[in-house]
Parts: sequence; structure tokens; C-alpha cells
Amino acid sequence: MAKVIIFGTRDLAELAHYYLSTDSEHEVVAFTVHSKFMESPIFKNLPVVPFDNINDDYSPSEYNLFAPMIGTKMNQLRADIYNEGKSKGYKFISYVSSKATVFDNEIGENCFILEDNTIQPFTRIGNNVILWSGNHIGHHGEIKDHVFFTSHVVMSGHCIIESYSFFGVNSTIRDGCHVSKGTLLAMGASLTKQTTEEWGVYLGNPAKKLEGKNSLDVF
Ligand SMILES: CC(C)(COP(=O)(O)OP(=O)(O)OC[C@H]1O[C@@H](n2cnc3c(N)ncnc32)[C@H](O)[C@@H]1OP(=O)(O)O)[C@@H](O)C(=O)NCCC(=O)NCCS
Repeated sequence: MAKVIIFGTRDLAELAHYYLSTDSEHEVVAFTVHSKFMESPIFKNLPVVPFDNINDDYSPSEYNLFAPMIGTKMNQLRADIYNEGKSKGYKFISYVSSKATVFDNEIGENCFILEDNTIQPFTRIGNNVILWSGNHIGHHGEIKDHVFFTSHVVMSGHCIIESYSFFGVNSTIRDGCHVSKGTLLAMGASLTKQTTEEWGVYLGNPAKKLEGKNSLDVF
């Protein structure tokens, strides 16, 4: 059990507070945002403290962080906050829903894994990975850092997902795929090739690369 400070005061922070309060042993003690984004000193009846100088009152030896954030800018904003927290000396907790099916998978820090995900054996999850509800994460695979799965994505067996990738709702990844860094697989797209181009956007079934744009242009 850890004393946890949640980064943010918007929807995902409220959801994280709900999930941690109802389905974990962790105790949420505060929220934090950068001072320029402070709207109120209280959220969910808990203090909101400036992230800029959070170390003044909340020592990393006593408190952990949790930063669940939306995946815009291809997860780079999420990565920045995670890295800033690490540079301040904090450990991040991960949340894995009691309604997810997991085995003895290796799961990194600051992961937010919601209900009805199935993570099959021999698959590793890196740091700062979000698996929203209902994904199938196949066996003998690897998901690297700062990746976002929305909902009802099928990642077949033996896939490697490189950092910063984002998978839209109902997308599908063929077995044995090596998905390159920063790939955006659009909602409903079905990836049939064995790999992708870095920062590429793929749409449709079979998925085709959107020419002339990269993922940072569209998301
Ligand atoms: C790839 C994506 C980001 C493109 O979004 P966008 O740039 O806003 O695209 P638009 O909605 O402006 O649509 C542009 C065109 O692409 C088409 N299009 C959009 N998404 C498409 C998709 N997934 N597959 C096929 N065509 C698509 C639109 O129909 C439109 O076609 P038109 O020009 O003929 O009218 C979006 O499709 C996507 O997958 N977003 C993720 C959604 C998601 O999973 N949300 C979960 C909650 S986080």
C-alpha cells in the first residue's frame, strides 16, 4: 500500500481516484498539477498541490505518484510528465483492475490497466502504458514504454509494440508484428503487414499508410 498523489484534476484523474479508492489498497492523499494550470486548491476533497515544487511537502521517500493522462501528441505529454516525476525522485504506482485477467506478467510503473483486459502469459508491459478497457493482449509479446491501447484492440501473439504507439478502438494487430515507434493505428484498422514505419498513420482493413502525414500531425 502506498500514499499516492495523482497528477491532474480532469476526467482521467477523477477516474484514477475512483479506481484506486474502490479497487486498490493505495491511499490517494492529494492531486497535483503545474501551478499555471491550478484551478482550485481542492479536488475530490483533497488538496491540489503545485507539481513545480511538490518535493517541498511530499517527500519521494514517503509518497508515490500516479499520472494517468490522455494520449494526445502521441503520448509525448504523458512521457514528459512521467519523466519529470522520475527526475524529481518519485516512484510511480501502477493500477491493474481486479477485473482484468493477468498472469505473472512483468508490468512497469505508471501503468493504468482497466477492466476486462486479458494479458496472456509471457507478455511484458513497459512503463507508462495505458490499456483502457477490454483489450486482448496476446502471448509472448512486448509492449514498450508510453504506449496507449484504447478499447477492444486485439494484439495477437508474438507482437512487439515500440514506444509512443497508439491504437484506436477496435483495431487489430496480426500475430508476429513489430509495430514501430510512434505508430498510430486508427480505429477499426486491421494491420496485416509485419511492420510499420515510425510515426506512420495506418487506416482501414487491410490497414494502409496515410501518405503525406505522420502521427504527430493527426493526433
Ligand atoms: C486516425 C484518426 C486520428 C483520424 O482522425 P481525424 O484526423 O480527426 O480524421 P477525420 O475525422 O477528420 O476524418 C478525415 C477523413 O478520414 C476518414 N476517417 C477517419 N477515421 C477513419 C478511420 N479510422 N478509418 C477510415 N477512415 C477514417 C473520415 O471518414 C474522413 O473521410 P472524408 O474526408 O472522406 O470525409 C481517427 O480515425 C482515430 O482513429 N482516432 C482514434 C479514435 C479512438 O480510438 N478514440 C478512443 C478514445 S481515446
